[in-house]
Amino acid sequence: MEKQIRLSYDKIKNVVSDDDLQQVQQKVNEAHNLLHSHKGPGSDFLGWLDLPFQNTDDIPGFNETVSQIREEAEIFLCIGIGGSYLGARAVIEALTPAFNSFHGTKPQILYAGHNIDSEYVANLIDFIKGKNCWVNVISKSGTTTEPGITFRVIKAFMEKVYGKENARKRIIATTDARKGALRQLADEEGYQTFIIPDNVGGRFSVFTPVGLLPIAVANCQVKTLLEGAKNIAEELMNSSLYENVSNLYAAIRYLLYQKGKTIEILANFNQKLIYFAEWWKQLFGESEGKEGKGIFPASVNFTTDLHSLGQYIQDGRRDLFETFLIVERIKDHIMVPEETKNLDGLNYLAGKTFHEINYQAYYGTAMAHFSGGVPNMTIYMPELNAYWLGALIFFFEKAVAISGYMLEVNPFNQPGVEAYKTNMFKLLGKPGY
Ligand code: PA5
Repeated sequence: MEKQIRLSYDKIKNVVSDDDLQQVQQKVNEAHNLLHSHKGPGSDFLGWLDLPFQNTDDIPGFNETVSQIREEAEIFLCIGIGGSYLGARAVIEALTPAFNSFHGTKPQILYAGHNIDSEYVANLIDFIKGKNCWVNVISKSGTTTEPGITFRVIKAFMEKVYGKENARKRIIATTDARKGALRQLADEEGYQTFIIPDNVGGRFSVFTPVGLLPIAVANCQVKTLLEGAKNIAEELMNSSLYENVSNLYAAIRYLLYQKGKTIEILANFNQKLIYFAEWWKQLFGESEGKEGKGIFPASVNFTTDLHSLGQYIQDGRRDLFETFLIVERIKDHIMVPEETKNLDGLNYLAGKTFHEINYQAYYGTAMAHFSGGVPNMTIYMPELNAYWLGALIFFFEKAVAISGYMLEVNPFNQPGVEAYKTNMFKLLGKPGY
């Protein structure tokens, strides 16, 4: 079979018919044209469409900085939240060996600034003490509370440990080219900087230095990641549902939503994709959930969650649909061994690989949930590698843009995230609130 991102959707057909799909083609065309003519809402933020076509060799200082950090650092601490955090973590967790963060390949990538948990920060400082540490503070605005206060603490720590001058050389800021508090601080302190383009919003920024710098420092193949994204970007130029898998996914979601399926569960069977699902939830939640509309994006990690949320999905409220994310081929195969006494009765699995069992667990689950009234579809990615991950990221970015336009919202703003901040600022006595 030709390697590609594929969508199989036979298990939605009791809710969404082929006829429904044909009827929605016109609406998909309109959304597709709005996006590509740059005439839709939020068209100032379409820079992400071009990011797969860039070459990291053209980002000033990128290769040199990555080499220097990889040579010197034991710890590379990324400070950021939301779009300035999740993309890098999603890719790094997906592409590096599962226990890296515990056993410390060099440099170990750590994250901060995505919470306000003092124990986390205190434990982090204990952990990095005595290790050769470099810091990447990532914030487009430079005024986001969580990374802002965390960076204050880490900056003070770095200056105490290394002295102001040496700390300065180990701190890299990824931020706006001209404006914002972090730009000003970086210029005043003399930090090296990488740029988040004006026309790229946080959750679409994984292919800017926001994601690419930590991803490259983690020794993941950024060029291959971009190549996967570029190739699928070229394939997704046709608006036809049957020739554009991203539009097809967007259309099916739209139709399911129209039929009362208001919650989408992204279900994966790979431990390494847990953070990918976190990235996906931000992408879809922040892009679609506005003006009283939008599908609520949730995620499960199977088979783990079949022993918890599986009950609800099988038997609870029927306003759900599921999107399985399946990796077709894996690298490392583990086989179930035979046990002479067979006390657990599992000898029928002896000689089978975990991958084979995992696949049948998926298939059995998809059938059970379908029979239980949860329509589901499956996105197949050929392998969990940089190429296909790049393709999958762009596939979802494109789908959410089309989906947002079909719902008639601006998929590129996030006015709703301000409400909690206003209250928090008032409660904490921020001047002017
Ligand atoms: O997608 C978004 O725009 C948000 O998640 C932001 O990325 C997040 O709030 C962090 O913002 P900033 O990069 O300005 O610190």
